[in-house]
Amino acid sequence: MLTIIENILDDEQVLNFRQKLEAAEWTDGAESAGTRSVKVKQNLQLGRQNPLAVELGNIILRKLGNDPLFVSASLAEKIWPPIFNLYQNGGHYGTHSDAALMRLPEANMTIRSDLSATLFLSNPEDYDGGELVIEERYGAQPVKLAAGDMILYPSASLHQVTPVTRGKRICAITWIQSAVADASAREMLFDLDQSIQALTPDRPDDDPDIDRLIHVYHNMLRRWASV
Ligand code: NI
Repeated sequence: MLTIIENILDDEQVLNFRQKLEAAEWTDGAESAGTRSVKVKQNLQLGRQNPLAVELGNIILRKLGNDPLFVSASLAEKIWPPIFNLYQNGGHYGTHSDAALMRLPEANMTIRSDLSATLFLSNPEDYDGGELVIEERYGAQPVKLAAGDMILYPSASLHQVTPVTRGKRICAITWIQSAVADASAREMLFDLDQSIQALTPDRPDDDPDIDRLIHVYHNMLRRWASV
């Protein structure tokens, strides 16, 4: 399942992020790639401990925690501190899959990547290429979103970023360990939750059918979640 979450950041925040990031000290992204992906990765990155990456990453984490669609779709248990990437001058990231287990020594944290997320920070009209292409069950999906919007996609998928042939593509990426590891179970919970949310406004506060659906939702979550 691919989930687009619009307006994680508003226009003013995106502008502020971009101004700060364009003045930042970027390093070669290959430094943090695994032995196989280093051959296909050509981009720039902000070091994980760079104070600007930490500051902006924390803003994103707060936004995600308060976004009902993100919470419902991800059932996030742990979120990797966001990483910032810059692609320009043909920069790209060839087809690869993300590591299943990721270790953050400074926080003594290991996460299992269930979901990958890309938050677009550049306006799509300001660069050519730079599509995130995700290979899904039904074929390859090219994704290029408005600045401030995020896509959530399965970390198990093969994906790539096509070469940026004009302008700059800046984005933030992160990985999520979900409380529900099984993607199809997570998708059923998401569908049920979305329907409950859609039905609730038209029903009285004490509607017994809504109560029962919520009851079912939580019992399914209890069955499938591990925390
Ligand atoms: Ni990736």
